[in-house]
Amino acid sequence: MTQPAIRYEHIKTCKQSGARLGIVHTSHGSFETPAFMPVGTQATVKTMSPEELKEIGAGIILSNTYHLWLRPGNDIVKEAGGLHKFMNWDRPILTDSGGFQVFSLSDLRKIEEEGVYFRNHLNGDKLFLSPEKSIQIQNDLGSDIIMAFDECPPYPASYDYMLQSVDRTTRWAKRCKEAHQRPEEQGLFGIVQGGEFEDLRKRSAEALVELDLPGYAVGGLSVGEPKDVMYRVLEFTTPLLPENKPRYLMGVGSPDALIEGAIRGIDMFDCVLPTRIARNGTLMTSQGRLVIKNAQYARDFGPLDPNCDCYACKNYSRAYVRHLLRTGEIFGLRLTTYHNLYFLLRLMEKVRQAIREDRLLDFRDEFFEQYGFNKP
Ligand code: GUN
Ligand code: ZN
Repeated sequence: MTQPAIRYEHIKTCKQSGARLGIVHTSHGSFETPAFMPVGTQATVKTMSPEELKEIGAGIILSNTYHLWLRPGNDIVKEAGGLHKFMNWDRPILTDSGGFQVFSLSDLRKIEEEGVYFRNHLNGDKLFLSPEKSIQIQNDLGSDIIMAFDECPPYPASYDYMLQSVDRTTRWAKRCKEAHQRPEEQGLFGIVQGGEFEDLRKRSAEALVELDLPGYAVGGLSVGEPKDVMYRVLEFTTPLLPENKPRYLMGVGSPDALIEGAIRGIDMFDCVLPTRIARNGTLMTSQGRLVIKNAQYARDFGPLDPNCDCYACKNYSRAYVRHLLRTGEIFGLRLTTYHNLYFLLRLMEKVRQAIREDRLLDFRDEFFEQYGFNKP
């Protein structure tokens, strides 16, 4: 028997919170969990070189099937030798299946059993994406973790709609598994749907666990529902997932939700939040969010975050970065992005350390106090 493409090594469970500390082993090395995955939609984490990503300790990044299919085309990425070689990143990569992007970016979509018809958000061309097509593209890209092609319904959706959707997502996951051509190198994760409905989450999880996939994601969250709904869904969903496989909460990256997710048994997270808000001038700091363009920072010659020792904070002032952003200078975007990712990756390190020390609930309370959050 060959080694599976993905192996979850459990290190320990936090005695105080139940959070998990682990290591996920892939074809391109390992990363520690709970992990945050920076998003590199277009085969680049905007403004960051792969060397910089390594410098700040990114263990795995996420990219998108939908975007790379449209541009430059999966054929070109394959010809380059795969996504790792194409973008010069030799650590693990996870690709999302395109399911979510079709629903969030394109219009005029039509969902059928076979797949989804929609229009290219760039030029209006008619396109079709199916489980088989998504997996073929991801096989060409060569990412270490590939995601099943699912439907992510909007919030709120009716129980009736959600039931139909969950069952379709299950049938699509089966087709994804059958279409997968490289199971020895790439691990296919299933995506649990079901919205806020406990019995539908159970129905979804049980059917997907039956497929014995190497990992599972919780999808359909962070789609506009209140945070307490998300936390409640996690509370009844993660216990339905196998303990010996990674669990991934899709599209979540606010500091509070990363900690609350880890407490509820999640191992992996991704979100455009830190990089996107960086580019519009919002910093994540130990004291909460800071809008660097505000006039109050015009003469603030201190670091972006007094408690951060990243390259940006060690060398540049709030006043300087504010100036760069106000003048539209590219270097400003690099500095804010670098800092925000550094901040979140350090947060995940602190979460892992707190699990090691069986004190994640205490850590959460201390962190929220400083950051200015209320406990859920
Ligand atoms: N990203 C955030 N949520 C989802 C989801 O439910 N499905 C997929 N495929 N990607 C996501
Ligand atoms: Zn910093």
